Amino acid sequence: MQVESGLVLCLWLGLCTLPCRSLEPADTVDSGAFQPQSALTGMEFVTVSSYRGPGNSDTRSNKELPILLWWSANLFPHFPGNRERVDCPRSSCLVTHNRKVQLHRRTTSIIFYGTDFRAYEAPLPRLPHQTWALFHEESPMNNYMFSHSPGIRLFNYTATFRRESDYPLTLQWLPSLDYLLQPPSVSLQEKNRWRQAGLAPVLYMQSHCDVPSDRDRYVREFMKYIEVDSYGKCLNNKHLPEHLEDTSTATGEDSLFMSFVARYKFHLALENGRCPDYMTEKLWRPMHQGCVPIYLGSSSVADWLPNPHSAVLIDDFSSPRELAKFIKALDEDDTAYMQYLEYKTHSKITNLRLLEGLQNREWGVNDMSKPNYLNGFECFVCDGENKRLVEEKAHWRNPEKNPAPHQRMANNSHMGCPLPSPSYGSLDEIDPNDTWVQMWPQDYWQSLDQAEGLVSLISHNESDPGLLWHHIHSIAMRRGRGQ
Ligand SMILES: *[C@@H]1O[C@H](CO)[C@@H](O)[C@H](O)[C@H]1NC(C)=O
Ligand SMILES: *[C@@H]1O[C@H](CO)[C@@H](O)[C@H](O)[C@H]1NC(C)=O
Ligand SMILES: *[C@@H]1O[C@H](CO)[C@@H](O)[C@H](O)[C@H]1NC(C)=O
Ligand SMILES: *[C@@H]1O[C@H](CO)[C@@H](O)[C@H](O)[C@H]1NC(C)=O
Repeated sequence: MQVESGLVLCLWLGLCTLPCRSLEPADTVDSGAFQPQSALTGMEFVTVSSYRGPGNSDTRSNKELPILLWWSANLFPHFPGNRERVDCPRSSCLVTHNRKVQLHRRTTSIIFYGTDFRAYEAPLPRLPHQTWALFHEESPMNNYMFSHSPGIRLFNYTATFRRESDYPLTLQWLPSLDYLLQPPSVSLQEKNRWRQAGLAPVLYMQSHCDVPSDRDRYVREFMKYIEVDSYGKCLNNKHLPEHLEDTSTATGEDSLFMSFVARYKFHLALENGRCPDYMTEKLWRPMHQGCVPIYLGSSSVADWLPNPHSAVLIDDFSSPRELAKFIKALDEDDTAYMQYLEYKTHSKITNLRLLEGLQNREWGVNDMSKPNYLNGFECFVCDGENKRLVEEKAHWRNPEKNPAPHQRMANNSHMGCPLPSPSYGSLDEIDPNDTWVQMWPQDYWQSLDQAEGLVSLISHNESDPGLLWHHIHSIAMRRGRGQ
């Protein structure tokens, strides 16, 4: 099973400055309350070759430039037209999404959008002079192919949420430091008044159920021990006030909606998939509002938090019951609660990795003075390819003096998300007919089959990706015979 992204659709329609969420197929994406689309939405793409990198003195004409081909039909980060010259920090390329150039001598790299990547549609045969580049900023659940070694190793350049990728997008959902520093929208005194008026200490708002992180199973158990107001489709026990019911309000940054959820002391913030460094607005938005996230998702999330006490991490507790005990105590202790908001004072942000990560990234989020990360990655590939071409030429002219360029290949640290596992309890305690059990472990292993099938297609120099199933079948047969 693959999850299609509504975001891609709106990119395809041009500049995503209009609200695009009406285009989202409601049940296929992680949509609904408290879940906007990808950070890419709203991004403005370079419309003309409007700037030239300072180190770029490339004088070649378009006819001489290397070509980068965007393979995913729905994503080409330029508008209008279907090809463009890009003048990057150090060199220039021609970029296009016209698949006719697939086998062209000058086409040096093919760029893929991870969510849309399908092994049975891969550009084959894979030519030895072409590199592959993977852009995957979305959830691991959208395509588990890259979580397996054979899948990710097909790529020479990566941009993923993992810090180890070549062009990391780890903090893509955190627009700026100021976003974190914003004073709490609702004071603790006011939150306490809401508590007395009957509001639960904890908010849950999720409408995409049965996801790989298996979050609802955990929350269901947690709710046995502590009050949770749940407004989304999953584990619903409360209705939104009428004026907030409109889903477009509930998915966006609508201010009425935001002040409604900011009254809660704690927000359950569970990602749809678990993977190191996969963090979304589920984590950063409650912090922006001054609510304490109860977080599950990236196992290494602590590496990026402002200080060691700015979120409650589900992984730190042995059970939902233990977690509930802790939250109850925190709910009754104003001093301890306020410690979790200390990072609202700049000097209490002590995590250098976070500060430097925000400062050093070359792309911006809602920042027109910096490139967006899609065009930024394209340039990263362009400069990398031009460097490789120069080194190859030099090597060809004088192999003794000039070594061949280093091979570059991604590995499991560039994505490598683990097999989905139950969020609570062990697999053998769960009904085998459970929807989650039926869906996600299988999806994960089928993705490995597809990756191995594609590797086999490439090593046999096949031109027809439609032969994928045949290759997967042969691999399974050989395995069955113990070869
Ligand atoms: C790109 O990756 C492929 C597949 O892993 C590898 O065979 C090839 O040598 C790499 N190309 C470069 C230029 O490093
Ligand atoms: C995997 O890739 C990372 C980052 O590109 C690199 O530092 C590391 O050495 C690689 N690991 C292996 C085993 O090749
Ligand atoms: C699972 O579903 C099948 C078919 O609906 C049914 O025959 C079987 O008894 C169910 N198993 C359990 C453990 O509920
Ligand atoms: C792979 O196939 C292509 C076209 O189908 C052909 O031009 C090329 O020579 C083949 N390469 C090898 C190594 O057989």
